[in-house]
Amino acid sequence: MADQYAQSGEHNRSAGMSAIRWDEPPEGPVLALLDQRRLPAEEVELVCTDAPALVDAIRTLAVRGAPLLGIAGAYGVALAAARGFDVDEAAAALEAARPTAVNLAVGVRRALAAYRAALAGGGDPRQAAEAALSAARALHREDAEASARMARHGLALLDELLPGGGHRVLTHCNTGALVSGGEGTAFAVALAAHRAGRLRRLWVDETRPLLQGARLTAYEAARNGMAYTLLTDNAAGSLFASGEVDAVLIGADRIAADGSVANKVGSYPLAVLARYHHVPFIVVAPVTTVDPDTPDGASIEVEQRAGHEVTEVTAPRVPVAGAEAGGGIPVAPLGTQAYNPAFDVTPPELVTAIVTEEGAVSPVTAEALAALCDRSRQV
Ligand code: MRU
Repeated sequence: MADQYAQSGEHNRSAGMSAIRWDEPPEGPVLALLDQRRLPAEEVELVCTDAPALVDAIRTLAVRGAPLLGIAGAYGVALAAARGFDVDEAAAALEAARPTAVNLAVGVRRALAAYRAALAGGGDPRQAAEAALSAARALHREDAEASARMARHGLALLDELLPGGGHRVLTHCNTGALVSGGEGTAFAVALAAHRAGRLRRLWVDETRPLLQGARLTAYEAARNGMAYTLLTDNAAGSLFASGEVDAVLIGADRIAADGSVANKVGSYPLAVLARYHHVPFIVVAPVTTVDPDTPDGASIEVEQRAGHEVTEVTAPRVPVAGAEAGGGIPVAPLGTQAYNPAFDVTPPELVTAIVTEEGAVSPVTAEALAALCDRSRQV
């Protein structure tokens, strides 16, 4: 890990990792991101000095994962305000950068509301910028706290569902310190099991096409000294069939009011496999990922990404200017069309439990989720 990350920050304490940090060098405030496009080969910082640069970083997955997108969005508003840019314009661009993870809009709106409230209360633009930054810092801190609580609730649930201990857990995509102010969501539960001596194996789906499992989850598991094994997404079926999976733990980008879960494409097939093989399918996400304004799974907008992510093997790097494709190694004939949804939606009846910082919901029903959200608002 680059030195500045090993030494910096109060957040992301998992093996010294800091996915995001606000900095104020003499040239003006910046948002520094650990560039996830370059992992695991290089630990490189990407410094954003304005909202358009951050929008680009979000679209190209330099910064990604639902909770971290919320934190980044909030800091992005604070950055635009601190540098004297048009804050409303920046907020609109940030919110629209990716459509599925509701946390992004939640984070942007929270910082924007703080900024506007300060102005409405007679504050000058500098004070309003400080209010936006305070809101972003608060969200960052709260996400770290939520992460620790999700890990506790999730481990308790795992122990209850699997009383024998020695859990063998399958996970998909990346849900650790790289996506959070703390140690993450689903990954944080696996990490808690590891620290308690009760994780026998973490099965890591590679997560095609952009390999968040292979590049990022394996990287985090290795850094934490966990027993992990990487598999191609297609190998999950035979792994279940041979009785090697005790539970599936995944995160979420948006949870609809009825309990439908949008997460990285490939999550839904795992839920179907888990049901067939009588294995618990557990979703771990902060309450901010539950969207009461999205009634059901069909109402969730699923991001469709460029075909070259499928027709080429490549890490998600910035496309070469002027080139049509992404600069990776072609694996399909030129001109091949690709179907490339970034997420899929798992219906609530396939979800054993949703674990949040406020506790677990099981069985997953609209009523139970609404009660959980009410409880969280009252705290
Ligand atoms: O496209 P990505 O890499 O942003 O997708 C991330 C995921 O799907 C994660 O599983 C999800 O955001 C939950 S992270 C806690």
